[in-house]
Amino acid sequence: MEDLDGRIVTASRLGTEEEYAESGLRPRRLSEYIGQKNVTENLQVFIKAAQLRGEPLDHVLFYGPPGLGKTTLAGIIANELGVELRISSGPAIDRAGDLAAILTNLNENDVLFIDEIHRLNRSVEEVLYSAMEDYAIDIIIGKGPSARSIRLDLGRFTLIGATTRAGSLSAPLRDRFGIVSKFEMYRPDELRLIIGRSAALFGMAIDQASLTELSLRSRGTPRVANRLLKRVRDFCQVGGSGSIDIGVTRGALDSLGIDEKGLEGLDRDILRLIIERFGGGPVGIDTIAAAIGEERVTIEDVYEPYLIQAGYLHRTQKGRIASGDAYAHLGLPLPEDAARRQLSIFDENGSEDAI
Ligand code: ADE
Repeated sequence: MEDLDGRIVTASRLGTEEEYAESGLRPRRLSEYIGQKNVTENLQVFIKAAQLRGEPLDHVLFYGPPGLGKTTLAGIIANELGVELRISSGPAIDRAGDLAAILTNLNENDVLFIDEIHRLNRSVEEVLYSAMEDYAIDIIIGKGPSARSIRLDLGRFTLIGATTRAGSLSAPLRDRFGIVSKFEMYRPDELRLIIGRSAALFGMAIDQASLTELSLRSRGTPRVANRLLKRVRDFCQVGGSGSIDIGVTRGALDSLGIDEKGLEGLDRDILRLIIERFGGGPVGIDTIAAAIGEERVTIEDVYEPYLIQAGYLHRTQKGRIASGDAYAHLGLPLPEDAARRQLSIFDENGSEDAI
């Protein structure tokens, strides 16, 4: 699908990323970007070096959970380099011809951002290899015996790939990125700064207690923080107030069903399912997905990272396990046999995430 700027975007991104971009909250310069210091400090050097040499920046791979600012940082990189950013995504590039069209329309040193790059299909991915390595692509013209391959030279460009799952990337693709950066969830103090900055851009005053409250309920994710802030702003404005105070903030968050740890309805449904229907686990991800009525990848990419990071869920080879903290959070007693079973699985299995 193509939007008005001629950028190829998937429908799902229109609802989230575009809305977010339009709200004008995205920082445009590296100096405005909060957090992810490990990523940005190195990038600053690589950008400078590329500029000094008059070369394109090496290809960059960003990985980590959704909503942590991968697209935002890609935009900043293009901006700092003074080049155009073209945005696309793995599922939107169906055929090799689609990719060829995008690549041949890039100007020298431009940045091409491909979100969900792990979802590119094989034939498209193969075209990308030579584009990344040699700045050239081989395209097949015609069909059957008269088909022939011609080599098309491209301008030099930078590919920024983003993925929620680095492990799903094929080795040949992964190896072609010169810079690989992992995005971490944000600390509450970083989220406070992001929320404060966004409130200022909205022209809203916000009290310290609200900043703290929102930062603690945002699942370590700026996209969530900004979304919550927008909803709090709605409650504020409808209530006739131009400034955000803790009373409105707490009321808004409670109305949205977001608890004091930032869990929402579906997070709690997942934990409750594991505890009440499967004795605390282990239970397979496909079983959870079917019971909850969500796609497996949505649970894996959107819900689980925070539940794991917050210590409510463990991922083991035998399946997902609700932690003792999950029982406590839901106000449920931890049966002795569940505690014993959990311990024995960890003994067999080594640590969590051993999948
Ligand atoms: N908005 C989203 N992510 C951000 C970040 N890391 N810094 C500032 N604003 C943001």
